[in-house]
Amino acid sequence: MKVVIIGAAGGTGQALSLLLKTQLPPGSDLSLYDIMPVTKGIAVDLSHIPSAVTVKGYFGDSLPIVLKEADIVLITAGVARKPGMDRSDLFNINAGIIYDLVKQVGRNCPKACLGIITNPVNTLVPIAANVLKKLGVYDPRKLFGITTLDVIRASFFVGSLKNEDSSKITVPVIGGHSGITILPLLSQVNGISFSDQEVEQLTSRIQNAGNDVVEAKAGDGAATLSMGYAALKFTMSLVDGLQGKPNKVEYAFVAGNTAYAPYFSQPVLLGREGVKEYLDVGPLSTFEQQAVEKLSSVLKQEIVLGEQFFKERTSTS
Ligand SMILES: NC(=O)c1ccc[n+]([C@@H]2O[C@H](COP(=O)([O-])OP(=O)(O)OC[C@H]3O[C@@H](n4cnc5c(N)ncnc54)[C@H](O)[C@@H]3O)[C@@H](O)[C@H]2O)c1
Repeated sequence: MKVVIIGAAGGTGQALSLLLKTQLPPGSDLSLYDIMPVTKGIAVDLSHIPSAVTVKGYFGDSLPIVLKEADIVLITAGVARKPGMDRSDLFNINAGIIYDLVKQVGRNCPKACLGIITNPVNTLVPIAANVLKKLGVYDPRKLFGITTLDVIRASFFVGSLKNEDSSKITVPVIGGHSGITILPLLSQVNGISFSDQEVEQLTSRIQNAGNDVVEAKAGDGAATLSMGYAALKFTMSLVDGLQGKPNKVEYAFVAGNTAYAPYFSQPVLLGREGVKEYLDVGPLSTFEQQAVEKLSSVLKQEIVLGEQFFKERTSTS
C-alpha cells in the first residue's frame, strides 16, 4: 500500500502520520507532503520508530512525484477553526486549496482512493468530485469525506452518559459533517435505550463536540489528535477492503444511494475498488426521521455552494 498524506505537517497530519507509521501493513510506503519544509524532518523523526513501513517527507513542488502510484490519498491540508468560527468560515480558503490539490491527484494517481478530511467536508467533497469529473477520472466509489470523528465522539458521549465502555459502543452517524447535518442514530445503538430528553441532549452534544475542542484550545487549533485516530480507523478499514478483507464497514460522506442528498454520510462496505456496496441507513425513529428531513435541505445548500464554487473557479481559470 502506498498512502499519501497531504497537509502532513499540520496537527491532524502529524497525529495521523504517527498512527499510520505504526499500523499500516508491513511493506507499506507512507509519503508525507506539505507546503512546509519541516515535513522532511517529520518523516526523519517518524522513520526512527521500528516498523516495516517506509516514511518519506516532501514539500514544495514535488507533489506530482509523491502522488505517483498512490493507493490512498488523504487530504488534511488547509486552515482549521478558531474560536467563534464555524466550519463554513473555512470555505473560502480551503475550497481553493482542495480544488488545486485534487487536480493534482486526478492527474497523477487517478485510480487512488481519496479521503477528504479538510473542512467544510460537506462542500469540499462536491468540489473534489467535480474536479475529478472534469478530468474524466471520477469514480464515486473512491471519493470519501471522512466523518469518522463524529462516530467516535458519539461512542464516547454515549459511553460516558451510560457508564459503559465506550470502545464497545457503536453509534451510526449519518448526514454530513457540520452542525445539524450530523445525525447520530441513537435508536440503533445495540442494548442501550435513551429517554427523549437524553436523545435531544446527546444529539446536540455530538453535533457541537468540535466547538468544545476549539474553545478549550482557545485559539490554538481544533481537534487534531482525536481526528488523527478517527482517520486511522477509516484508513485501516479502507486498506483492509482494498486488500480483499471482508466485512469492512465505515460511515463516510459519499455520493451514495440515499434519497436525502446527492452526497450523504451513510454506511459503506469497503472492497477492492473502494466502496463495494452502499448500505442502507436502517430504520429511523420519529425524531431521527424529522431530523433527517431538516438536515437534508441544509446539506443540499452546502453541496450547491461547492458546485457553484467549482463553476466559478473553472470559468476563470
Ligand atoms: N473531517 C473532520 O472531522 C475534521 C476534524 C478535524 C479537523 N478537520 C480539518 O482538517 C484541516 C486541518 O486541520 P489541522 O488542525 O491539522 O490544521 P493545521 O493548520 O494544523 O494543518 C494544516 C496543514 O495544511 C498545510 N497546508 C496548507 N495548504 C496546503 C497545500 N496547498 N498543500 C499542502 N499542505 C498545505 C499547512 O502547511 C499545515 O501544515 C482543517 O480544515 C480542519 O477543519 C477535519
